[in-house]
Amino acid sequence: MSKTIHSFDGKSRAKKSPEGLQHSKTYINGFDKLCPEGIPVGNAVLIEGGPGSGKTILCLTLLKEACKRGKKVLYMSFEEREERLKIHLKNFGANPDEYEKKGLLYVKRFNALDIARSVEALLSEAKKELLIEVQPILIPTEFKPDIVIMDSLTSISSAFSGDPSRFRIYMEQLFRYLEKHEITSFLIREVSSPTHIGTNFVEKAEAVSFLADGIVALYSIYYSHGIRKRGFEVVKMRGAEIDRKIVECNIEKGKGLVVKNNSLKGNYILT
Ligand SMILES: Nc1ncnc2c1ncn2[C@@H]1O[C@H](COP(=O)(O)OP(=O)(O)O)[C@@H](O)[C@H]1O
Ligand SMILES: [Mg+2]
Repeated sequence: MSKTIHSFDGKSRAKKSPEGLQHSKTYINGFDKLCPEGIPVGNAVLIEGGPGSGKTILCLTLLKEACKRGKKVLYMSFEEREERLKIHLKNFGANPDEYEKKGLLYVKRFNALDIARSVEALLSEAKKELLIEVQPILIPTEFKPDIVIMDSLTSISSAFSGDPSRFRIYMEQLFRYLEKHEITSFLIREVSSPTHIGTNFVEKAEAVSFLADGIVALYSIYYSHGIRKRGFEVVKMRGAEIDRKIVECNIEKGKGLVVKNNSLKGNYILT
């Protein structure tokens, strides 16, 4: 087995020079309140939550706020088609056509199986040690983004059926590339239950948790009086102080994902 699979322990990611850390706000009000300094530029942030918890909509809202401020965003979709994503964006008050015209936005749908096949092909060549140095497969060379969104790692992971170590190799390659180019990334991960709230559910994508600099969790909150709401938490953010509380959030027409300021009250469970 290739040495590169095991030699990377994630520690090199913690060595970023503290004096050189630049932070960037998300301009999602409630998100910024929980992470007041902003997200360190170049951080890889996992967006975790169950199906329908709002992961895609959170990322589209992040995209809108970034493009509005002249940042370049690459949205790599392995699930929804480009057209649908643009319709969502318009519903949430964004202007994807204008961002594209200005060269600020590149939305592209990929087939996760293509990645799996290409990694397969590369690994079957002799130069396994070089793999980690090359441009991660499917990151377009012609567009230099400030922010990359991948929707979702879970889709990519499932394309690597049968061989989790190949998925890990791809993830290590991807994280190194993003770090080297100081690209802030939001990487969606669909989980039945966010990893830190105690579950013995183990899946192939587990390896990405320790590679990531940040984790944002989206919850379904079930109150004892029978009401369901959406919840939001910044679980971890390397290089920035965070306010560790779970707050409510909503999906609102014309806005996208709106994060509230209030802590949860009463009896509830998180799912
Ligand atoms: N325009 C909208 N207004 C209100 N809620 C919406 C709107 N569009 C989608 N939703 C809600 O958002 C949920 C899907 O969010 P999405 O971000 O796609 O979930 P996922 O976490 O699976 O990516 C839907 O189940 C729906 O309830
Ligand atoms: Mg989604």
